Amino acid sequence: MKVACTGRSWALGTRIAERLGAVLVETNFSRFPDGEIYLRTGPLDETTVVVGSLLSSDSLVELLLLIDACHRSEVLLVIPYLGYARQDREFKPGEPVSARAMAKALSHGVSRVLSVNVHKESVLSHFAVAASQVSLAPEVGDFVAGLNLENPLILAPDKGAVPFATAVASRGGWECDHLEKTRLSGEEVRVEPRKGGPWTGDVVLVDDIISTGGTLATAARMLRAQGAKGVHAVCVHGLFANTALTLLRSAGIGQIAASDTIEGPNSRYSAAGPLAQALSR
Ligand code: R5P
Repeated sequence: MKVACTGRSWALGTRIAERLGAVLVETNFSRFPDGEIYLRTGPLDETTVVVGSLLSSDSLVELLLLIDACHRSEVLLVIPYLGYARQDREFKPGEPVSARAMAKALSHGVSRVLSVNVHKESVLSHFAVAASQVSLAPEVGDFVAGLNLENPLILAPDKGAVPFATAVASRGGWECDHLEKTRLSGEEVRVEPRKGGPWTGDVVLVDDIISTGGTLATAARMLRAQGAKGVHAVCVHGLFANTALTLLRSAGIGQIAASDTIEGPNSRYSAAGPLAQALSR
């Protein structure tokens, strides 16, 4: 078995290869003069684990090219961050189910798909092959434990994040609660406390995705105004779109951490362990 990864999933791909004791395939992506992406890989094996997060149109093309280059192998496809999963239904007439479009495109030439904390698990059913996910709740729990906070409250910013927050909290036996979120636009949300609060200790906000940072920044401002001692934010997929990091910091958030499903300066813990374990099964 060998591991091959796309440009933006190189660090995680390397960690998965190390965990599996597998060789990392050389993948050279470059551009033709007209902007099209060119790929040449090193020698492959009978089975290739292809690792690539779906972050942009380019990363989709890289994945499609890499899967095709592996056509003589059995391909186990790992999509650490499954982008487009939030458009999981036709919200307004005329819209695509983008998650379904991506799943269809990425089902050809692969025998199995594995992802991480997919925004809605149901989108995995759009793949034409067996597709499953791993949860990084234990890794987030271990990361929070390493912050050495005194009895932190694990807080989900909305109901959708409750199962994840509950699993994180159970790792350290911490208290868990959630806020009520109303999305006003792509960047603006309103968050209100439920019956819990005000919280005066350390609060760790946990979510699957940080995109614009609007959700957690709004929550953090409210928590700080209510007297929280410290507010921290840990997510699985750190997209940090536009000025998200500035927004989060200016809202008074201390630690801002994400996994390496999207590699960046805030990648503070890894998805490699659970992914390698799932691949070995
Ligand atoms: C939405 O339901 C997700 O779980 C996240 O809460 C959301 O994607 C975060 O987006 P943003 O950082 O733009 O508020």
